[in-house]
Amino acid sequence: MLRSLLIALSESRRIRSIAENSALGQKLSRRFVAGTTVEDLILAAVAMNRAGVRVTVDSLGENVTNREEALRSEARYHQLLDQMARHKLDANVSLKLTHLGLDVDESLAHTTVEELLQHAIAIGGFIRVDMEGSAYTQRTLNLVRELHRRPGAAGHIGVVLQAYLYRTEEDARLLCSEGIRIRLCKGAYQEAAAIAYPSKPEVDANYLRVAQQLLRSGLFHGLATHDEKIIGAIQAWTLQEGIPKTAFEFQMLHGVRRDLQESLAKQGWGVRCYIPFGTEWYPYFMRRLAERPANVWFVLKSCWKG
Ligand code: FDA
Repeated sequence: MLRSLLIALSESRRIRSIAENSALGQKLSRRFVAGTTVEDLILAAVAMNRAGVRVTVDSLGENVTNREEALRSEARYHQLLDQMARHKLDANVSLKLTHLGLDVDESLAHTTVEELLQHAIAIGGFIRVDMEGSAYTQRTLNLVRELHRRPGAAGHIGVVLQAYLYRTEEDARLLCSEGIRIRLCKGAYQEAAAIAYPSKPEVDANYLRVAQQLLRSGLFHGLATHDEKIIGAIQAWTLQEGIPKTAFEFQMLHGVRRDLQESLAKQGWGVRCYIPFGTEWYPYFMRRLAERPANVWFVLKSCWKG
């Protein structure tokens, strides 16, 4: 119930505008967001790299409603790629197609990602296209598959699949057959039971099933989860199958289980931290609250303390 309410609130443009412009909102967002500027982001990324954790950086924003906003998002991503190269970060970028204008003009989003991909190729980088709600799943996969076929693009662009969707096992099979690197997550949006597993045990079981399918493919994939039971099961299974610790990576979010991120890295497992930054933090922040109701108490307590 609370999860559904928080996800519904995450889509309110009115509350978003109030929250993003309030000093209290900005303060609370720091629980999951590195800050508002590229400099904040670089500081957070350098700290994680020093702790042996790779990063993926996300310039926050989604569902832009006009061309100008989409072009501004694109410019920020080019700036990010330049800064990552300049600071020699062990980093790649994560982006959302609706932040780059998918709702405004599909060809604009396509051209933008293509140009970002060329930039990433030039610096030996990698772009991960995040997965949004199911209304975007097919278009996201089509775009990534098309760009991945371009000369020199293989290994420089990947995508995300969500274990809560029934279609994911089939999508994983197709993408792996084309050599596309996948980040597997559970899924953060509100989806109908007609297309998504409604219960956590079913999502968890599918996560493990698809994770094993990915790791058998021999490609380098990312397993995005903070779920210690799943992490433990994957560790045991990979050791039993003789899959090296370096053949894949665990991925976690900035502000969530940093202790676990650092301890896995110390034990020699690949770990990557997803670090978001920017002023358009509200939908991202609300989805983080929805994932763990205890986070709501943290926010209420912080409000109380002022
Ligand atoms: P689960 O929700 O079962 O939580 C397991 C445990 O992890 C909890 O008991 C708690 O201890 C801890 N935990 C989880 N979330 C927490 C939080 N917000 N705050 C504090 N503790 C928390 N989704 C999507 O739809 N599209 C995408 O592109 C991405 N991308 C992405 C990248 C990365 C690197 C990560 C880690 C996650 C995503 N997600 C995502 C989000 C994902 O779908 C999912 O909602 C969250 O990861 C939470 O699920 P867990 O697998 O952590 O397990």
